[in-house]
Amino acid sequence: MAEAQVGNDDFRDDPTINQLEERGAHLLGKEAALFVHSGTMANLTAVMSHVEAGATILVGERFHIFDYEGAAMRRVAGVEFALVADQTCGGSTRLLVEELEIKGPEPALLCLENSVNTPGTLIEMDHMNELAGWAAERGMPVHLDGARFFNACIGLGVDPRELASCADSVSLGLSKALAAPCGSLLVGSGEFIEQARHNRWMLGGNWKQGGVVAAACLAALDTMNERMVQDHENASRLARGLDAVEGLAVDLSRVVTNILYMQVTEDRLDLEAWSNFMARHGVLTGRFESERFCRWVTHPDIAAEDIDRAVELAAEAVHWALAS
Ligand SMILES: Cc1ncc(COP(=O)(O)O)c(C=O)c1O
Repeated sequence: MAEAQVGNDDFRDDPTINQLEERGAHLLGKEAALFVHSGTMANLTAVMSHVEAGATILVGERFHIFDYEGAAMRRVAGVEFALVADQTCGGSTRLLVEELEIKGPEPALLCLENSVNTPGTLIEMDHMNELAGWAAERGMPVHLDGARFFNACIGLGVDPRELASCADSVSLGLSKALAAPCGSLLVGSGEFIEQARHNRWMLGGNWKQGGVVAAACLAALDTMNERMVQDHENASRLARGLDAVEGLAVDLSRVVTNILYMQVTEDRLDLEAWSNFMARHGVLTGRFESERFCRWVTHPDIAAEDIDRAVELAAEAVHWALAS
């Protein structure tokens, strides 16, 4: 980062950003890419570039684009949502588009997500292709939210180009499993990315000296991709360990990437006390109090020994929370 060559990306004269964009486009087998500040900005820019304000977009009801980004999509991109229910069986999730009764205008864009953040599952390649074919029959472009694109490729056992071929555009997260400090790439056709460049500017997303960050993103692509398989193995190890602790349960068939959801099955266990104990010992989990589950994510700073220690702590925390 300290040695990065930088410039003003308004004029496309930041060589490090240019290099990152070329690398991203090449990796996914698309014509061009655009470096943006976040996954949220990548999705928003993508939607604004695919459709006009007033359009309806088709989104899985648990997908981030609706669930967390919906307000911005409505207000900034001016779109409305048609929501699609999904079905999760083991580690795979399907969108029930065939059950969709589209009332009102035909949606102008289909948004997918792979891997699926909630509940950390995969959309299998045959279903990705089926959905892409369904959209193509209707002349509907497809955007893929790839916040965890490489986790999906590893989980599905496919090359990045194969997964990317199911979509017209992909937002490729660099700051999650790839561990860059921040940033995403929006990848698509040359014409689409030109439009996206304009829309990124409207969102205030142009970079000055952004090469400093792009350098870290290039390093992330160079060094993190291969080792990500370790995060998946660690998540499985963690799932098996937690499931063996009395009072906690994990559906092992669902743990197919680096995310796992742990259910608290012991009614007397105070989840807040349990997770506070874990946090005091350096293990942070996402707590969903009302549904009595915790979300765990493995990442590059976690080794297999840390997983074993976390499982030991989880068991200790159960005893502690039940006693307190
Ligand atoms: C599936 C998905 N898409 C998009 C985002 C947004 O990414 P960012 O936090 O970089 O804006 C997230 C963040 O958690 C996500 O899980």
